[in-house]
Amino acid sequence: MRADTLTPDQLAQIDSLIEAMTWEEKLNQIQVTFKMSQEECLEAARSGIGALFWPGSARDTNALQKAAIEESAHGIPLLIGLDVIHGFRTIFPTPLAMAASFAPKLAQASARASAEEARSNGVNWTFSPMVDTSRDPRWGRVVEGFGEDPLVNSAFGAAMVRGYQGEKLDSSSLMAACAKHYVGYGAAEGGRDYNTVDMSTRRLRDVYLPPFRQCVEAGAATVMASFNTMNGRPMHAHKALLTEVLKEEYGFEGFIVGDASGVENLIPHGVAANMEQAAIMSLSAGLDMEMGGKLYEDGHALLTEPDPALVERVNEACRRVLGVKFALGLFDNPYIPEDAEILEPREDHRATARQMAEQCPVLLTNNGTLPVAPTFSGKILLAGPAADSRDHLGAWVQRMGVEPEVSLKDTLAAALPQAQITVRAHENPLAISDEDIAEIRGCAADYDLILLALSEPSDLSGEASSRADIRLPGNQDRLVEAACESDTPVVVVLVNGRPLDISAWAHLPAAILEAWHLGITGPEVIADILTGHINPSGRLPMAFPRSVGQLPAAYDARENTGRPPSRAGSIEPKNFDFAVDGPTNIAEFFTSKYRDLDLGPLFPFGHGLSYSPITVEKVQVRTPTLAIAEMNKGACIQVEVTLTNEGDVPADYSLLVFTHDILSSLAPAVRRLAAFVKVGIPAGGTIHETVDIPASALAFWEESTGAPVIEAGEFEVLIEGDPNQEPPRFTLV
Ligand code: NOJ
Repeated sequence: MRADTLTPDQLAQIDSLIEAMTWEEKLNQIQVTFKMSQEECLEAARSGIGALFWPGSARDTNALQKAAIEESAHGIPLLIGLDVIHGFRTIFPTPLAMAASFAPKLAQASARASAEEARSNGVNWTFSPMVDTSRDPRWGRVVEGFGEDPLVNSAFGAAMVRGYQGEKLDSSSLMAACAKHYVGYGAAEGGRDYNTVDMSTRRLRDVYLPPFRQCVEAGAATVMASFNTMNGRPMHAHKALLTEVLKEEYGFEGFIVGDASGVENLIPHGVAANMEQAAIMSLSAGLDMEMGGKLYEDGHALLTEPDPALVERVNEACRRVLGVKFALGLFDNPYIPEDAEILEPREDHRATARQMAEQCPVLLTNNGTLPVAPTFSGKILLAGPAADSRDHLGAWVQRMGVEPEVSLKDTLAAALPQAQITVRAHENPLAISDEDIAEIRGCAADYDLILLALSEPSDLSGEASSRADIRLPGNQDRLVEAACESDTPVVVVLVNGRPLDISAWAHLPAAILEAWHLGITGPEVIADILTGHINPSGRLPMAFPRSVGQLPAAYDARENTGRPPSRAGSIEPKNFDFAVDGPTNIAEFFTSKYRDLDLGPLFPFGHGLSYSPITVEKVQVRTPTLAIAEMNKGACIQVEVTLTNEGDVPADYSLLVFTHDILSSLAPAVRRLAAFVKVGIPAGGTIHETVDIPASALAFWEESTGAPVIEAGEFEVLIEGDPNQEPPRFTLV
C-alpha cells in the first residue's frame, strides 16, 4: 500500500466509520480469528470481526460477507485470509525451489496465477511471501522463503507481492499480500523454530530488513510480525521495529498482523502477565491486527474502560485495516461470482507452474552420465522412496492443492520408451531395512544404470519442522552407498524441502540432481531433465553444508576474520592414540577453520551445473570510477560479462555478480551478491550482458550514524569462472 492508494473520498469514509464505531467494535475490527464451523464464522461476521480464515468455498465466503454487510453494525466487508504460499489448486515449486531459478519474473507469474485461483474461491488475503533470510537448514521453514541471500529474498519477495496484488489491488482476480515474518525469524538460534534471536543492528539492517523494505516498496498491503524475540524483546511488542522502522522509516501504509496467537504468546515469553497486558503491549508497539481472536475473548481483556492512551492507536489500527479493505475494492464488490470458482488446476496455470519448475532443479554433480539419451535401451533400476511417489508438492499446501497425476516411474517410462525399467519403490524412507540395502547391493551390477529417487517427505519441512540431523531420513544414505559399490553408474535425484547433509556419499554417484519439491509438474520436469529435454539451470539459493557442525555455511555470513584460512583441516592420528591433529604448518594452524572439515560448504550458494559448459570469456568494468554522489542519485557501476555456451544445446544461465570491498571501516563480507540476472544462451553462442550494481548493493549500515553508508575506495568484482588473473576492480570516489 502506498500513501496515494486511497482516494480522498475513501479516506473520508474511513474517518466517518471510525467516528461511528464503538470501542468494542473497533477492537473487533482489528482481529482475525480462527473459527472452525460456518455457524461460528457467521456469528463472528455478524458481530463485526475484521477478518476470518477462508471457510472453504465461494458460496460460504459470500454467506460470511453477506452476514458482515447486512447484519453487522456498520456493514464492513471481511478480509478472508489463507496461507496460499506456493499455489492454491495448481501447486508451484516451493519458494526455496523458486529461488533456485534466479528468475523472479516467473515467481511473479506464479503468484498471479495463485491469486486468480484463490480469489475466485473467495480468498482476498494471502499470508505470503515469506522473506525471512534463512541461513540454517535445520530450520524447517527455509523451504517457505528464498534462501540465504538478502538480495534474492528482496527480488523474489517484491516479485511475489506484485504478482498477488497487480498494479491496482481492486481487481476481482487479485489478493492482498503479507510479507512475513517481521523480522529476524530466520535467525532462530540453532535453527530451532520459534527460538531466540539476538543480533547486531548492522546484521539486522543489512541482512534481515532489506527484503521487507523491498516488499513495502512493491506495495505490500500487510506485514506479519514474527514469533521470535529480537535482543530480548518479542517482535509482537517491538515498537522500535514495528512502528519506528516499518511504519515511520519505510512509510508502510498497510497494516501489521500478528502471527497465530503471537500476542497471547507474550505471556509465555515472560513479558506480559495476562492477555490484557499482552494486548496493550502489542497495540502500543504498533501491531494493528491480532491473529487468534483474543483481544476481548477469554476474560474480555480490553473490554473495560477504553484506555485513553490506546484510543488513538486503535483508531489508527482500524484506519489501516479499513484502508486495505477499501484498496481491495471490498466495499464496492464484496461478493464473488460463485459460478466462476476455479475448482481445479487451470491449463494455463499448469503451464506457468511447469515453466517455473523447469528452472528450479540444480544439477549438483555430473560425470557425464546425465543426460540419459531418450533412445537409451539398457536396463535401469529405479529405486528409492520418490520412485513411485506423488509427494512432490512440499510444505504449506492446503487440502485443495492437487498432486501430480503420475509419479517418476510413469514419466520416466514415457521419456525412455526403449529402456527396460525395473522399479523398486521403497515407499516409506523410515522403513528401508537392512534387507532392502542388501538387495540393492546384490543386484546393482545387473543393471546398466541405477536411478535412486530419494526423499525428505514434504511434512518434514515447514513450520515446527526443525531437524537436528539434516541427512536424508531413514536408511537412504546407506542405500546410496550400497548402490554405488558396483560399477553401474548411479544417478541420485533428491526430492526434498531444505538443503541436506549429503557429505557422507556425495562423491560416490555419477550425478546428483537436486529436484526440490517442484509442485504439480514435478515428476514430468524431473524426467525431462534426466533425459536432456530440459537443460538444468538452477543454482543453489542456500548452501549444502559439509556437516551440521559447520553451520552457518552461508556465503557471506562471515567476514574475512583476522586469520583467514587457506588450507582446510584434516584429522591425522598422532602417535598417541587419543588425539587428532590438523595441518602441521604452525602459521596455518592458527586460522579460522575446523580441524576436521574442508573449507567452505559442500555446495555453496550459487552452485549449479548445466549440460552445456558456459564459459565466462571476459569481465569488464565499464564504470571503473564513479562518484558516490552520483551513485546516490541513481548512477550504477556497470559490469559487462561475455559468456559463451560451449555446448550443443541452448542453456539458461544465472549470472551472479559479487563484490568485495577491499578496505572498509567495518570488516567487509568475503563476498556480497550485488546483482543477478538470468539469461538464455544459444548452443555455441556468445552473449554480452551488462549488469548494473546500484548504491544499495554497496552500502552497509553504520551504527554510529544510524544510516547506511557507502565508503570511497576500491571494490573487486567476483564472478565464478572469471578468466582475469586478478578480479577487475572499480573505485568509488
Ligand atoms: C503461523 C505461521 O507462522 C504463519 O506463517 C501463518 O501465516 C499463520 N500461522 C497462519 O496460518
